[in-house]
Amino acid sequence: MDRDNGGYRILVVEDNPGDFVLVEDFILERINSPLIVQAKTFEEAKGILTSYGHKYNVVLLDLSLPDHTGEPLIHQIVELCGNIPVVVLTGYTDFAFGVRSLSIGVADYLLKDDLTSMSLYKSIVYSTERKRIISALKTSESRVRSFADQLNNALEEERSRIAREIHDEFGQQLSGLKMSLSSLKKSNSNNTDMEVLMDTLIADVNTSIESVRQIANELRPVLLDKLGLFAALEWLVTELEKKTGVTAYLYADTDQPEISKTLEINIFRICQEALTNITKHAKASLVIIKVENIDKQLSIKIIDNGCGIKSGTLHNPMSMGLLNMKQRANLIGAELNITSSFQTGTTIQFTLNINGKKNINSGRSLSS
Ligand SMILES: Nc1ncnc2c1ncn2[C@@H]1O[C@H](COP(=O)(O)OP(=O)(O)OP(=O)(O)O)[C@@H](O)[C@H]1O
Ligand SMILES: [Mg+2]
Repeated sequence: MDRDNGGYRILVVEDNPGDFVLVEDFILERINSPLIVQAKTFEEAKGILTSYGHKYNVVLLDLSLPDHTGEPLIHQIVELCGNIPVVVLTGYTDFAFGVRSLSIGVADYLLKDDLTSMSLYKSIVYSTERKRIISALKTSESRVRSFADQLNNALEEERSRIAREIHDEFGQQLSGLKMSLSSLKKSNSNNTDMEVLMDTLIADVNTSIESVRQIANELRPVLLDKLGLFAALEWLVTELEKKTGVTAYLYADTDQPEISKTLEINIFRICQEALTNITKHAKASLVIIKVENIDKQLSIKIIDNGCGIKSGTLHNPMSMGLLNMKQRANLIGAELNITSSFQTGTTIQFTLNINGKKNINSGRSLSS
């Protein structure tokens, strides 16, 4: 087999001279002109990785060094390595420990007694390639996230703009029409038929004004911008009760944190979609939005006592609601958890790390 010309730069963290020579020979057997650097202690490896870590493709790590050994050594080296894969070379034949070391970030775990030039070469190539692919995936994932973030912001701005236009333009015109009808009614006060007709028209215009307000508010609740998240959530539950007759509560700790507009908008939209789902699917009689502020963490739960999410329905490609909720939660650094059963209904929960506090009294609380 031809030797690999991949230009590998390998840091071998190994204090035993015999083992180092063996590893070096195995590498040279398979790889052409690699850069091989030896560190004999953890401290030496730390110095190299801190100053020149980015220069290496892979770190080969012996688990018993004079100044550090075993699992604590793995933790520290993995942390120092960041994106560089770490392959453990060890004399320990503890299989369970080998498996555990993979879960704490080691790329591969090789027994020195079983080592051959081929097994070492494969491990170096596979682990470097795997790290490269994972790092490319992470970059593309972060690009997708930032695109989704921008898309959401653009959507919110557009909704605000449309809500303003509808409210200001259309709403003003209807108010003007109402005033004209009222004056017309006054000037025809001696004509009963005309008065009755005017009353009907004024009532129709009032209904239209209310509809316009409703549409604008659903696009972008004025309360969210003027009074903040908790007033807007209060409005959501009140609207749910009005429209469906379901008993709905907002339970919010009285000591609520100060959070950014972006967080507020995303939390509000998640709750809004959750309540829409409850209206459409849950057949619930009780709904609670619970916002708790515990140890700089804001936990939000939307709980219903309905029929639960049927298995299989979650993966319908035409369903966007839950997917959007998950995406919004990810955007604000939270993970959306859904628990659901036929007996207990559905709970949607997510938790945010937050800083800073401000007192906001929720309107209607169950208790606090
Ligand atoms: N609270 C709930 N109770 C019972 N079933 C639910 C609940 N929330 C969601 N579901 C089920 O999960 C499915 C997926 O919800 P999702 O919001 O993603 O889609 P959707 O509401 O069907 O459509 P849309 O894309 O318009 O939101 C729903 O079709 C419904 O069957
Ligand atoms: Mg939905």
